[in-house]
Amino acid sequence: STKLYNLPSGDKIPGIALGVWRANPGRVGEAVKTALRAGYRHIDGAWVYGNEAEVGVALKESQIPRDQIWLTSKLWNSFHAPEDIEPILDDSLQKLRTEYLDLYLIHWPVAFKAGTDNEIDYDLTENPYPTWQKLEEMVEKGKVRNIGISNFNIRRIQNLTANPLKIQPAVNQVELNYWNPQPELLKWAKDNNLLLEAYSPLGSAEKVKKSLEVPLVKNIAKELNITPAQVYISWHLQRGTVVLPKSVTPSRIEENFKVVTLPQKSFDELEEAAASHPPERAVDPSEWWGIDIFG
Ligand code: A2P
Repeated sequence: STKLYNLPSGDKIPGIALGVWRANPGRVGEAVKTALRAGYRHIDGAWVYGNEAEVGVALKESQIPRDQIWLTSKLWNSFHAPEDIEPILDDSLQKLRTEYLDLYLIHWPVAFKAGTDNEIDYDLTENPYPTWQKLEEMVEKGKVRNIGISNFNIRRIQNLTANPLKIQPAVNQVELNYWNPQPELLKWAKDNNLLLEAYSPLGSAEKVKKSLEVPLVKNIAKELNITPAQVYISWHLQRGTVVLPKSVTPSRIEENFKVVTLPQKSFDELEEAAASHPPERAVDPSEWWGIDIFG
């Protein structure tokens, strides 16, 4: 799909990205190349995934002009202190072999103390404004075109946007799937002109199998002569979010880019079914980090 969304900056972000979380070294480069051949023009990565250098090589080898590809990376929790941001952004830029990112996100609404990988910095966590101001400076410097957030709930978004921001967050990247459809957040984001990006759109590794066997989804797939994965990815686009399916399997990478418009009835049925069970989050590091991230 080549659906594009408009951002406040005027940039247009492609609706489907190849997600590369847990795309292992040795496989991620090939996955990126397969995706680009299939028509993807959006790669969603992060410094902490540890695979940016291989992604960078694949992007270069594809010979697709840089300005035709949308590249997202994310600021890891250990680097929220303003003085630590530019060096780690530069590290991502160097690994990705590019002069600029299209989008740079605060990966989690959680700051670690510099030099640690689990000690919470409560001041910077509760007040992300200094971090945000530095990201605004990175936009002014031309190293980043758009800035946004990830894993922020409404309270944490409002806590950030209560400050006199020069640049509003362009997106909030969150978990969205059949098991955790977050209709309230989706509605709030639409009302507040904030684009959401859906990570783990098929339910994340452990749950994908279960997702693909939901009878309603199998029925819709059969009716439309598409696969259950394509039903889900089409559903996300129709909900108005960017969707970030991860795969390192060539046939799946191709499959995930071929979406349809679901009939309204099927869309409504799926929306209702997704909301009809208690939400189950696939990704929540609250316990490891000792902080209620979604509270
Ligand atoms: P793999 O990378 O081995 O192809 P999510 O995007 O929700 O996190 O799901 C990613 C998981 O789903 C990965 O384990 C990926 O496996 C698998 N996956 C991705 N696309 C498909 C598909 N079209 N059909 C089945 N499994 C898929």
